[in-house]
Amino acid sequence: MNTSQQIDAFKQQFGVAPTFVARAPGRVNLIGEHTDYNDGFVLPMAIDRDVTLVGAPRTDAQVRIHSLNFEQTTEFSLSDIQKTGPEWSHYGRGVALALQKAGYVLTGFDAVMYGNVPIASGLSSSAATELATIMAFSAAAENGKLKIENGELSLVSAAKLAQQAENQFVGVNCGIMDQFISALGAAGHALMIDCRSLGYELVPMPPGATVLVVDTTAPRTLAGSAYNQRRAECEAGAVFFDKPSLRDVTMAEFKALQPRLPTVVMHRCAHVIMENRRVLDAVAAMKAGDLEQLGILMSQSHESLRDLYEVSSKELDAVVEIARAEEGVYGARMTGAGFGGCAIVLVANEHAAAVAAKIADEYPRRTGRTPNIYPCVASAGAGHWKLGE
Ligand code: GLA
Repeated sequence: MNTSQQIDAFKQQFGVAPTFVARAPGRVNLIGEHTDYNDGFVLPMAIDRDVTLVGAPRTDAQVRIHSLNFEQTTEFSLSDIQKTGPEWSHYGRGVALALQKAGYVLTGFDAVMYGNVPIASGLSSSAATELATIMAFSAAAENGKLKIENGELSLVSAAKLAQQAENQFVGVNCGIMDQFISALGAAGHALMIDCRSLGYELVPMPPGATVLVVDTTAPRTLAGSAYNQRRAECEAGAVFFDKPSLRDVTMAEFKALQPRLPTVVMHRCAHVIMENRRVLDAVAAMKAGDLEQLGILMSQSHESLRDLYEVSSKELDAVVEIARAEEGVYGARMTGAGFGGCAIVLVANEHAAAVAAKIADEYPRRTGRTPNIYPCVASAGAGHWKLGE
């Protein structure tokens, strides 16, 4: 579905021409997993798959969104936002409420929405939907800008409000990474985010390598409860070290007290402390164009997530194993929360097609499942523009 087809769909649905396009991408995380809610570092990139709303402002406080993926329409009033209607509509309702609570005065709109971020695969289709909807509210506002007393909505604030919607309205206790990269990603770059200060730095993707995203297509059944359990274990670790968060625990402090920690908490802490270090090392490797080193760090990250953090799955491990045996592969790891979802493979451009073919052939034999494989390029973050100008 391209934008002009979506414009036609809007005309068919609402009988008039749309005036704006609003979009936001999904993401993969190159490295820095389960560090965001520990105030640590992450290094995701926005991918060339996104959620797009084509719409037009209304003169009242109604919002009508027709999803082309679900072939359903949802409608709600900005003066009475409830968690009702189809589940996919909760992201839009949630961000509308969060924006209003923060003081933004919203204008209603009609829109058709379409996404090509695979749903529930760990590529952040929910963050993309949240940010795309915030962009639609911005597009519908006067002069295309959402304002409060002390200024305009920034992309960082948009990310924070989207996370707030996900935490409080949708009810998923995620960190800031997915919303932040969907808002602030840039073409050709990964984004190093300090999840405590929300400072960030764009890091150019070194030339010569492709990021293959491999969707294991395995269900992510335990994801929610196990994610919350990991968060609780990390909090217990921080309390043990008497620090605000695991970000503040140095390797030396960890080593000194490690024998006194319960094994599981000790493993979780070890992962987070070393993973934060790996992110900084990965940034240095990328700046030096050192793909070998970046790949090694990615593979170490996977092993740590598998053995210490225990959030991998046999399907994710299978992808990583198959990939790492192939020529031209620098590294491979699970990406996102884990328990299924996607793995990423960093591979030299000239070997990417052969590695994808090998995974497509070998993975079903090992797991009985068919993978979906997408080569991805680092893409721009959220935005909106007017039509017909
Ligand atoms: C999910 C969450 C993120 C982050 C990752 C793990 O994607 O939404 O906030 O915690 O898991 O790194």
